Amino acid sequence: MHVAIIMDGNGRWATRRGLPRPAGHVEGAKAVRAAVEAAARAGVDTLTLYAFSAANWERPRNEVDGLMFLFRRYLFTETRRCIDESIRMSVIGRRDRLDESLLRAIEHSEQLTADGKRMHLRIAVDYSAQNGILQAARRARRSQTLTAQEFHRLLNEVNHSRPGASEVDLLIRTGGEKRLSDFLLWECAYAELYFTDCLWPDFDEQQFQAALEDYASRVRRFGKVNAETAAEGRL
Ligand code: FPP
Repeated sequence: MHVAIIMDGNGRWATRRGLPRPAGHVEGAKAVRAAVEAAARAGVDTLTLYAFSAANWERPRNEVDGLMFLFRRYLFTETRRCIDESIRMSVIGRRDRLDESLLRAIEHSEQLTADGKRMHLRIAVDYSAQNGILQAARRARRSQTLTAQEFHRLLNEVNHSRPGASEVDLLIRTGGEKRLSDFLLWECAYAELYFTDCLWPDFDEQQFQAALEDYASRVRRFGKVNAETAAEGRL
């Protein structure tokens, strides 16, 4: 099962407490660790977290710098834990605009965790689904026979997802907004969507379980009719 999360609400969490927005991201990073543990315990195969969108470069300089620092620190502190827990880590998105030290930390973590079999953790940094689709389309441009599966593989390739990930089964967005914000647009074609008002720093294992329980109650039809509806001739 592939779960993707749009981790929204760090800024509001901080502002409501009279703290600067970056303080919300620090607390959000703690929630990331909890979510990774909860997902691994729940038997999730792939967990993709939206940490920084291509549009987030437009945020104030101190906030961007603070986030980049947190990503680097996360890689340094969590790589050991991921090795111990057999979690494979990759960072998806563009790489050409990232700082050299962050790039090195990413490559280091990816290499050290490459044998992880229990779960694939993908952290999206400088990520834009539209940009990924555009890059993959440029590579595929001359092929008339390209299948959807082959395009999906190209998309994983341009996004640096090693190994490639399957389509998303459950997309969770915290923070009350109900939009996809340029996240995994191709991969979410048949994803079940779960929106919660909970702000990301408050998203704990219990909240994660609630999302999984809601998902378990959904009937996934992938555009077809389910057996019951077909049998009743309700078409
Ligand atoms: C959106 O909340 C959140 C982000 C743009 C950053 C997400 C980063 C983290 C959860 C922490 C660091 C991540 C890792 C992987 C270590 P917002 O700031 O837009 O919140 P708001 O809508 O309340 O303003």
